[in-house]
Formats: sequence, structure tokens, C-alpha cells
Amino acid sequence: MIRIDSVTKRYPDGTVAVDRLSLEIPDRSITVLVGPSGCGKTTTLRMINRMVEPTGGTILLDGEDIQRQPVTTLRRSMGYVIQNAGLFQHRTIVDNIATVPRMLGWGKQRARERAAELMERVGLDPSLAKRYPYQLSGGQQQRVGVARALAADPPVLLMDEPFSAVDPVVRKGLQDELLRIQDELGKTIVFVTHDIDEAIKLGTMVAVLREGGRLAQYAPPAELLSSPADGFVEDFLGADRGIRRLSFFPSAALELTTDAVVPADAGAALITATKAPHLLVTDPDGRPLGWAGRDELTAGDIRTDRLLPYGRPFVPGADSLRVALDCAVLSPVGWAVAVDGGGRVTGVVSQQTIGEAIRAAHTAGRADEEKVAG
Ligand SMILES: Nc1ncnc2c1ncn2[C@@H]1O[C@H](COP(=O)(O)OP(=O)(O)O)[C@@H](O)[C@H]1O
Ligand SMILES: [Mg+2]
Repeated sequence: MIRIDSVTKRYPDGTVAVDRLSLEIPDRSITVLVGPSGCGKTTTLRMINRMVEPTGGTILLDGEDIQRQPVTTLRRSMGYVIQNAGLFQHRTIVDNIATVPRMLGWGKQRARERAAELMERVGLDPSLAKRYPYQLSGGQQQRVGVARALAADPPVLLMDEPFSAVDPVVRKGLQDELLRIQDELGKTIVFVTHDIDEAIKLGTMVAVLREGGRLAQYAPPAELLSSPADGFVEDFLGADRGIRRLSFFPSAALELTTDAVVPADAGAALITATKAPHLLVTDPDGRPLGWAGRDELTAGDIRTDRLLPYGRPFVPGADSLRVALDCAVLSPVGWAVAVDGGGRVTGVVSQQTIGEAIRAAHTAGRADEEKVAG
């Protein structure tokens, strides 16, 4: 565990970048430092690997003051990834990744094998190994940066806005990749960002910092959303935190209706059995085709070319209540379609039922918080 204990950094010009910051950073999880530009995130991160020395307080790594450890030993235990990857432009990708193992005295062959293994791990095609950084896209370069930081298998990974310079689609891919790698490797990651959505997506714990390097709140993302500590945190979270909080509630418990689901070749008897105003028509495999009015259907054969689009379906269990609600809001009939992993319809659910589930989840959430607080 990394323990930051009342740490202050006052730069020689008098700027207080970090002010008596205390944080316990748990092992094998992602801790995010988030806050507006200039609030001391980079300074904090760099104090952990001693690229910046604090002017007050202590930082402990597994109970030991990092000041007492030789800087080289400390840095070896900490990979470091920065914005724009910071790659060596005159070295090939494979040699970039092999840098630290080579410095540690590994043979060329072993270091390159390790680099190849890491390229695969971070989702880089082996054919890129002999290229130079300028021949890669921004997203690919960031992946190389992550691979290089992981090369010597350090227990700790420090990441300073690693995905901030790439476009939103690539950024989402990199975030998903990081979560996957973290699942596999279980590093202790300290991740800096100014993007609250990124913080909420990646963080097990999120530290919100404010100007002057002061801690505004340190909590799991769901708790930030449900109970921001003050107006600053609330403003920083943005307007739709109620909706975003739904990401933390599962959709598994939603009550699905199946009698409003009919195969395209259903007989009239099956159709008249339901009172639902709209019916979801499926193909012979049970995949959704679209919505039809019940009255239209009872009038005769199902015309699959006249159906309303069924929109985006959700997967109960895998998707959150937020996704289910979004599907219902986007649906032309106000009902969301639930499918299994194979895309077969398991039922449909109305906005109203989802609304009731949301209220129940909020009530349960509040009860949990009161239990913790009490
Ligand atoms: N070497 C330095 N000398 C003086 N002031 C600095 C130095 N580095 C950063 N600062 C100041 O410290 C504050 C925090 O900077 P930084 O840690 O880079 O913030 P962030 O990463 O959150 O944007 C800012 O006001 C910045 O201008
Ligand atoms: Mg910074």
C-alpha cells in the first residue's frame, strides 16, 4: 500500500502545489487523482516516484518511508506513463518497450521476447515491432507507453493523463484495455486525469483535488455521485450525476415481460393473449425484428416490413440500469428490449417499470450508506 501522509509541496517560487494531502492508496486497484488543471495532480504523482521531493509530510510504500530507499530501487518498482507516451523517437517500438529490461541487464533476446509478449497484452499488432514511434497513431503510441511501463513487471503503475491527447473513440478503447489489463495483472495503479467521466469509469477510489492541492473528497465513484462532499465536488461532477449514478446499479433484477413478445409466424390466438399496446416481433431464432401495434397485428398477418425499429437492446446482468433506461428512452414505444448474450430476446420492459427499479435502487443505496455511516 502507498500511504501519503500530510504531504506538502511548496516550489521554490512559493507556489503551494500540494497542501497537506493524505491518501491511502490500496493495493491492486486503480486510484484516480482528478481535478482542474493546476490543482497539483502531476506534482503528487511525481512525489510518489521522487521525481519531485515533498517539502513536508511523508510517503510510505508498504510501510517504509520512500525517502529511505535508493531512488533507483524505488523507480524500478514503479512504471510511469505520461501523455503523448514520451517514447524515444530514434528507437523502434520493440526497443522502446525493452528499454527498462535492457537497463536491468537482461539479454537482448529475452528483452525482445518480453517486449513481444507485452505488445500482445496491450493489443498491438506484432507487425508494428520494427516501426518507429512517428509511424504509429496516437492511440498506438499510448499503448506502447503502457507496454514500456509494464516491461519490468513493476507492482506500481503511475499514469499521468495518459489518454488525454487522443480522440474520444480511441480513448474509450484505451480505457477498456487498461481495465482488462488490470483484471489480468492486478497492479497498484495511480491514475491522473482532469476528466471526471474517465475518473468514474476507471477508479476503484477517486480523489478529487481542488486548486492549491487540497483534497476535496476521497471516495468510490458511486459514492461521489450519490453524496458529493460539497458544492465544489458537485459542480465538478456536472449536471447529470443522477443519471450517471445509474451506471452502478445492475439491470439484472428488472422484471421482464414475455407475453408482449411474439414470433413473426405467431397465430392470432397468441397475439390476442396480451394486453400490451405494442408487441415485439421476433424472427424464428428469437432475435428482435421490431415493434407492432397490437391492434394491427390482430387484424391479420404480421407485416415485418411495417415494424417500428426496436432500437438498441440491453443485456440484463451485463448492462446497468442506465443502459436499460437509455434503451427505453430511445425506443419509439417507450419499452426496452432485453436480449441474452447471443442476441435472443428474453423479454421487454417499460419505462415505468425501469423507473420503479431506479427508485428501489436509490432507496436501497441510501440504506447502505446509512449503515456505513452509522
Ligand atoms: N517546477 C515548478 N515550479 C513552480 N511551480 C510549479 C512547478 N511545477 C508545477 N508548479 C505549479 O504547481 C501547481 C500544480 O501543478 P501540477 O502539479 O502540474 O498541476 P496539475 O497536474 O494538476 O495540472 C500549479 O500552480 C503549477 O503552476
Ligand atoms: Mg498535470
